[in-house]
Amino acid sequence: MYTEQLIDHFNNPRNVGCFPDADGIGTIGDPDCGDFIRIYIRVKNNRISEIVFEACGCPASIATTSVLTVLAEDKTLDQAFSISEMDIVRALGGLPDPKIHCSNLGAAALRQATGQSGTDGLLPIQKQIYDYIKDNKMVTRDQVVNALNIPDWELEKQIAVLRHCELVKGKKVEGNVYLVLFNE
Ligand code: FES
Repeated sequence: MYTEQLIDHFNNPRNVGCFPDADGIGTIGDPDCGDFIRIYIRVKNNRISEIVFEACGCPASIATTSVLTVLAEDKTLDQAFSISEMDIVRALGGLPDPKIHCSNLGAAALRQATGQSGTDGLLPIQKQIYDYIKDNKMVTRDQVVNALNIPDWELEKQIAVLRHCELVKGKKVEGNVYLVLFNE
């Protein structure tokens, strides 16, 4: 059962929009459900002066990101980075257990936007794949699957997210396709 606060944030999402000239952008997707959140922030004196988001997701992901933008307004970058999934759940007066994970997306996207490094908001498996590619410069999909001991379909899903976040791309060298960092 959704709380009144959640229904209100879903029906009237706050701070929806996009800043082409943002100081920080975070994009996170959940390959299991296909939902994506993108958060844009403007920063003045180390504080978030403006924050907006775009969402392609379920009602809970929209409501949790909406309330997150309210929580993050006027916070320092460190304070915003530290907003947890449970802070978001509390601000909405609770979330049904099966929807708790929906609060991860906005929180992770905000961490990425405030961290500026591009990888702060990644899920652990995404970070593992990213780091492996970074450490080895140029790898095949089979190498990643074997090194990290994950199924092929899992790698496919996570690579789709890393591509979407412009962190990893495919590169053709002498007829073979390798995974490399996006800026290689
Ligand atoms: Fe995907 Fe809610 S079901 S974020």
